[in-house]
Amino acid sequence: MLYAHIAGWGRFLPDRVLTNDEISRQVDTDHEWIYSRTGINERRLAQGETTATMAFEAAARALARADMHPSQVELIIVATATAEYVFPATASLVQDYLGATRAGAFDLSAACSGFVYGLSMANGAIQSGSVRNAIVIGAERLSLVTDWTDRGTCVLFGDGAGAVVLKRSHVPGGILATTLRSDGSGADMLSLPNHHQNNIPFLAPEFSPNGQHVGKITMNGRQVFRFATNNVPEIIEETVAKANLTMKDVSLIIPHQANVRIIENVARKLGVPDTLFFTNLDKVGNTSAASIPIALSEAVKANRLRPDDVVVLVGFGGGLTWAASVVKWDVTPPDVTLLDREWKRAKYVWARGRSQARRFFRQMGARLSRSPNKMIESGRKK
Ligand code: COA
Repeated sequence: MLYAHIAGWGRFLPDRVLTNDEISRQVDTDHEWIYSRTGINERRLAQGETTATMAFEAAARALARADMHPSQVELIIVATATAEYVFPATASLVQDYLGATRAGAFDLSAACSGFVYGLSMANGAIQSGSVRNAIVIGAERLSLVTDWTDRGTCVLFGDGAGAVVLKRSHVPGGILATTLRSDGSGADMLSLPNHHQNNIPFLAPEFSPNGQHVGKITMNGRQVFRFATNNVPEIIEETVAKANLTMKDVSLIIPHQANVRIIENVARKLGVPDTLFFTNLDKVGNTSAASIPIALSEAVKANRLRPDDVVVLVGFGGGLTWAASVVKWDVTPPDVTLLDREWKRAKYVWARGRSQARRFFRQMGARLSRSPNKMIESGRKK
């Protein structure tokens, strides 16, 4: 029997902080309303960063923690709703940035449940023996798809990325059980229409560095609230039971960071204290697929996870989708010195150089080789 253990984790948040007060100057709202209804104080905004560069940063940090070289990586999954391209996948861009030359890569679309879905896919690939390790990333640049004139949604979302490295082991532990669910009849409750448009008014020019806007998030907040509080407690209990455990065995629950009132409601329904849940949404807002791995990295930093702890990761969102995973936390992080870290980053400079060289030689090859039409013509002349 093979098990997928979490061997590394990392997160990346852009430097630019957007406070509730700043939003209040643009739409009819105020800090008091936002904080009391959502628990959000501030969120981060990507400026120079893209979904792929944020995903790369989080993945590089997770690989450093796992003490792995990118050439060892066999699978990269990026859960995102804000990929720059339909194709190539964001995961392929990350593969190139990392120089993970032996990895398969694909994106996964399951909105705010995407990270837990990705964990489940990677776990399956490791347990089946088809790969020995995988990086699962949640990355979002939601500021590009937020309607900054809609006070019902623009106060909620933020940008960022988080990642974990999973490694194969014969030792029981790691991901113990996962449950995935979907109800497409609720598709209209929370959606991001996939069409191209460039004329959406933005909060201010600096929020739209590229002047791009691809679709925008629409949501029925009350219905989404009800959906989450009805389904999240059930899927947590179901997945904990699947792992042959009880709620008493659970040390920490890391939920999708959507709204602190949803989390309090779920805690009440489960009959557990709010403190069993880790939250960081006051500082980062709702970062969709990125929220769980960002929170996981911060929970480790805050010493909320100890060896042998049982942690539940639970996501919910557009689709509708919802998903939970029960994980035994059995990693001991290696001591990584600053010098180690800087030395390890040098390999990404090398990866960029190699990628540029491959592009250059591909272009030269295309120039030097004859086009198919010319080949046909010269064949006819003969
Ligand atoms: N500032 C001030 N007033 C606001 C506001 C804002 N940012 N957003 C909405 N309002 C107003 C509404 O216009 C409405 O006014 P009205 O009564 O005059 O019509 C009033 O507040 C109540 O609106 P409602 O939508 O019922 O508020 P709510 O208590 O449900 O809170 C959310 C709104 C979005 C915070 C809440 O529904 C929520 O968090 N839902 C879940 C959303 C979520 O988590 N989505 C992501 C899931 S992945």
